Amino acid sequence: MAVFRAEVLPLGSTLDIVNMRQAVRRRAIEAGFSLVDQTKVVTAASEIGRNTIVYGLGGTATLELLNDSDRRGVRITFEDKGPGIPDIELALKDGYGTGSGMGLGLGGPRRLEKEIKIDSQVGEGTRIVLTRWK
Ligand SMILES: Nc1ncnc2c1ncn2[C@@H]1O[C@H](COP(=O)(O)OP(=O)(O)O)[C@@H](O)[C@H]1O
Ligand SMILES: [Mg+2]
Repeated sequence: MAVFRAEVLPLGSTLDIVNMRQAVRRRAIEAGFSLVDQTKVVTAASEIGRNTIVYGLGGTATLELLNDSDRRGVRITFEDKGPGIPDIELALKDGYGTGSGMGLGLGGPRRLEKEIKIDSQVGEGTRIVLTRWK
């Protein structure tokens, strides 16, 4: 699998979300996604990115365009050095969320995307990888 055009974006404040959303949409367009699929991946990315800022105390989003033999995709890796998630399964449950996002942040993207991987260590941080293929 080939990876093109890695781009690292800061996630420090909610203003950075606007920028990240635009960059994700550009990647999704480059990957040939339909308008609906562009919006799905942008929505999922902004939910996860908000968590990186609010709970992870800021971090980065790395955007990549993927090229398999017969398909293209987008991968976004969110990393922070925040407190970590003690119980990932619990955090993923619908309605678990404690913030203003109605608990749709992690559960929502996982439902939407299917391809989401969460690594988190208490006291060290969180890495969430969102991959979506056309
Ligand atoms: N990057 C992160 N660092 C630490 N905890 C996180 C992170 N992302 C999510 N969480 C935890 O997972 C929970 C669920 O997240 P989410 O589904 O987005 O709901 P909400 O943001 O509405 O609380 C959050 O309430 C938080 O406790
Ligand atoms: Mg959230």
